[in-house]
Amino acid sequence: MIGNRKDDHVRLAAAQQQSPTRTNDFDHVRFVHHALGAVDRSDVVLRTDVAGQTWQAPLYVNAMTGGSVATGRINRDLAIAARETGLAMATGSLSAYLKDPATADTYRVVRQENPKGFLMANVNATVSVDEARRAIDLLEADALQIHLNTVQEIVMPEGDREFAYWAARIEQVVCGVDVPVIVKEVGCGLSRETVALLRDLGVYAADVAGRGGTDFASIENSRRIAGEYAFFAGWGQSAPACLLDAAAAGMPLLASGGVRHPLDVARGLALGAVAVGVSGRFLGVLVEHGVDGLVEEVRLWLEQLTALMTVLGAGTPAQLTQCALLISGELREFCAVRGLP
Ligand code: FNR
Repeated sequence: MIGNRKDDHVRLAAAQQQSPTRTNDFDHVRFVHHALGAVDRSDVVLRTDVAGQTWQAPLYVNAMTGGSVATGRINRDLAIAARETGLAMATGSLSAYLKDPATADTYRVVRQENPKGFLMANVNATVSVDEARRAIDLLEADALQIHLNTVQEIVMPEGDREFAYWAARIEQVVCGVDVPVIVKEVGCGLSRETVALLRDLGVYAADVAGRGGTDFASIENSRRIAGEYAFFAGWGQSAPACLLDAAAAGMPLLASGGVRHPLDVARGLALGAVAVGVSGRFLGVLVEHGVDGLVEEVRLWLEQLTALMTVLGAGTPAQLTQCALLISGELREFCAVRGLP
């Protein structure tokens, strides 16, 4: 049953990738060009520190799947691509494994394919401490991702309807596991109030996972016979809006949601993220071009990110935050409404 849902998610998310000229809030972030500001390309390093470890690049494969035979194969291919390119990776939600341990291999394959890589185990906000530990143990995970997905749940016919206890549950899990906990949305973004609450709960980092890319409200709505929840499409805040909104919250931020190419990665880093996550776009490439195509695509992204940093005079991902940015359109309006400079 859960396995079917996971297969549906992959199919519908891959279909969303097929509308090619999609604009989003990243387009409202432009770099000011300085013709004498570049550094030597050989002096650019992509390494970044996240959750107490050094990542080879400020880019990661964000949570997607597991729980069925077909999604196990996708996890295997994503893990191979992460291993070959040095990217960190999250599995999809381990809820299927926690309900049915027979699905373990569809997740464990990620660790088997990438024994030394940085791996995040993904769970929902309803898990107990014991379940969170089982998820971490299965993957020998370096960090735990907890996803917040109220819109997705409410649109899903079989979804959760009780949400008020989630914050308390997150706090228990943070205290009860011995890896850093990262909390993420699934495509609706995290407000600065939410990020501040997560910080107070002891969460290590927040992955904003904003709107503008994979749209789970639409995915779940299309799984309903009457499709009566279409109004939730595009709900929430974009990753650039969230990064600007939560910059002062005092916790490490990860950017994801709607990242389409290396320029969006550079934009996310310039807006203060320590790393940038991609789901839908990498899934689309994998489905269309296979694992070799995805490896090639990620290598190209890393080359192109290096080129962007060279021109922008940033020797490290963190130095991108020194770049002057032009913020326009709806993103500028968002900043005005939220009282941001
Ligand atoms: C997801 N996403 C997701 N997130 C999560 O925390 N747990 C999960 O199990 C899943 N499952 C899932 C399946 C598929 C097929 C996709 C494409 C995505 C959400 C994902 O991690 C991310 O937050 C959003 O997709 C937004 O990023 P993109 O896709 O716009 O890069």
